Amino acid sequence: MKYDAIILGAGGAGLLAAATAGQAGARVLLLDHADKAGKKILISGGGRCNFTNTATEPECYLSENPHFAKSALSRYTQWDFLALVERHGIAWHEKTLGQLFCDGSARQIVAMLLEECQRGAVEIRLSTQIGEIGHSDGRFTVAGASAPRLVIATGGPSIPKMGASGIAYDIARRFGLEIVTPRPALVPLTLGPDDQAFKDISGVSCPVTAQTGATSFREAALFTHRGLSGPSILQVSSYWSPGDTVSLSLVADAPERLREARRRMPRSHLKAALVELLPNRLAEVLAARIGLGQELGNTSDAELDRVAETLMHLTFHPTGTEGYAKAEVTAGGISTKDLSSRTMEARGVPGLYAIGEAVDVTGWLGGYNFQWAWSSGVAAGQAI
Ligand code: FDA
Repeated sequence: MKYDAIILGAGGAGLLAAATAGQAGARVLLLDHADKAGKKILISGGGRCNFTNTATEPECYLSENPHFAKSALSRYTQWDFLALVERHGIAWHEKTLGQLFCDGSARQIVAMLLEECQRGAVEIRLSTQIGEIGHSDGRFTVAGASAPRLVIATGGPSIPKMGASGIAYDIARRFGLEIVTPRPALVPLTLGPDDQAFKDISGVSCPVTAQTGATSFREAALFTHRGLSGPSILQVSSYWSPGDTVSLSLVADAPERLREARRRMPRSHLKAALVELLPNRLAEVLAARIGLGQELGNTSDAELDRVAETLMHLTFHPTGTEGYAKAEVTAGGISTKDLSSRTMEARGVPGLYAIGEAVDVTGWLGGYNFQWAWSSGVAAGQAI
């Protein structure tokens, strides 16, 4: 069968690219090895899909080329996607920090995208293996179909048990495109035996400013039996490299708070002051770790400042991440060097495009990754 475009991967990026191209009149074939389209959309945002973020800006994305995402994000914005959601009558709400979720279910977003594909007469073939890709006389052949345009929209390898794979990189390499080494991102970090006491308080969560290098995020952190998680940790994990430290500011105004506690309860020990500032179990672990023996009233300013320093810069040396099995996204991927930022077409291979998570553009936690899938999908969909 002959098509104008074949799109590989019926995730968020592939579905919106297919709908966009189909509605513009292209004959589009959308292929996926999964038995359902948009599986990651279905499980996203706890089943309610955090489908975009009102604060989307190019600065919220990591890439070797921080300018690459600008064009697509500015031509199909968070407001454009929200308008689509509203045209389909899907009720939504803002949860926190600009994060928009469906009131009902993520299934509504998949149904909306499938309806848009239907309007564009897109042919969707699920449970289909991609197999060998042929390329001759300006046409690509895949799974018995051929087209002058081929779009790689197969995402990254995070959550392999859902069918995620690194096939995007294999296809890109086969056509001579460079790959920025992929790594798990938005992923919990693991701690070693020296930090066993923190692993023993698994389930404790508190607001922190988490920092690695020059990057910091103010959100909750969660202690787990393997190490650190929670939104602030997932955010910094995308910037973390093996060997880097992660520090948590647990009490921003610790020097003042400790002096105030010393004035108010001079006969108490440090743990009593910490319990007022932090969850009980965390306060206990920190009091034991800091090991201040005497009563607060007998503690010097210098000693209080040492305690305050720990509360403002509790520093961890993570041993690693929980890997692709737990990573919400994959950072790195098909190098933006080889792609047009306007159309997502490979410069050296006319007709070949790459979009979504397969590309070396990775968003923060909070709807930014779907927005990249939508924006890059529309950019390619308009071009093919
Ligand atoms: P995506 O991975 O969605 O789609 C790729 C498609 O290609 C899949 O349908 C897959 O089956 C197919 N495919 C893969 N390998 C193939 C092969 N070998 N042969 C054929 N087909 C193949 N983001 C966000 O903004 N808000 C959120 O709420 C969440 N929540 C969230 C929760 C969880 C648990 C995860 C794992 C991820 C999120 N994300 C998120 C991230 C978001 O899901 C992700 O960035 C997008 O789905 C990326 O869209 P793509 O279309 O690029 O890839």
